[in-house]
Amino acid sequence: MAKLTIALAKGRLQNESIALFAEAGILIAPEQINSRRLLVEDQEGEYHFVFVKPSDVPVYVEYGVADAGICGKDVLLENGADLHRPLDLGLGYCRIVVAGKKSELESKENRLSTLRIATKYPRITASYFQQRAVPVEIIELSGSIELAPLLGLADRIVDLVETGRTLLENGLEIKEVIAETTAQLIVNRASFQLKRSATVQLIERLSTVIKR
Ligand code: PRP
Repeated sequence: MAKLTIALAKGRLQNESIALFAEAGILIAPEQINSRRLLVEDQEGEYHFVFVKPSDVPVYVEYGVADAGICGKDVLLENGADLHRPLDLGLGYCRIVVAGKKSELESKENRLSTLRIATKYPRITASYFQQRAVPVEIIELSGSIELAPLLGLADRIVDLVETGRTLLENGLEIKEVIAETTAQLIVNRASFQLKRSATVQLIERLSTVIKR
């Protein structure tokens, strides 16, 4: 059977993804997980795994250098890549929210002027506010987004909330929920056709162990 390359997101989803594969009988040796190697194999030598930044997972899979991958729905919404999405894995539940300073009342003046929004999700943000006909200026950042309202860089942020702790500890609160996100299995469209039995087997193995 064809050997598949699977792209996994480093960071918050990494351990849960590895644990899910382990439950499905696809084991990566701890010394491989704990190493700095970015390309590893499972113990049976059936799969290659690459560890990449979450936002890069759909890029690797869309270009076919990885046959499949796991990343959050947030990343897919933002990326817009054309991919096969056979399974919602139910892991890593988060919300994509609009947040701002706690109990800050919007003044009339503020509402009439363009809202400045800091985010690492410019596409999701633009589409959300466009649908509501709210004019926004988007300031793209790549991390520590919560700092922006505190320092006066932005009025609001659009960011991921998991436990809510980061918002709370920075005096921010959720103003609106844009979407919910969980980890998705994604598969390259050509791999799904050309490596059919291997990709179908992967989907079946994971579907037996996913949390619903
Ligand atoms: C994410 C997100 C928030 C935080 C939310 O950041 O952007 O900052 O986690 O988690 P919480 O609700 O459990 O506090 P991440 O850790 O991915 O790092 P980043 O700041 O580099 O985006």
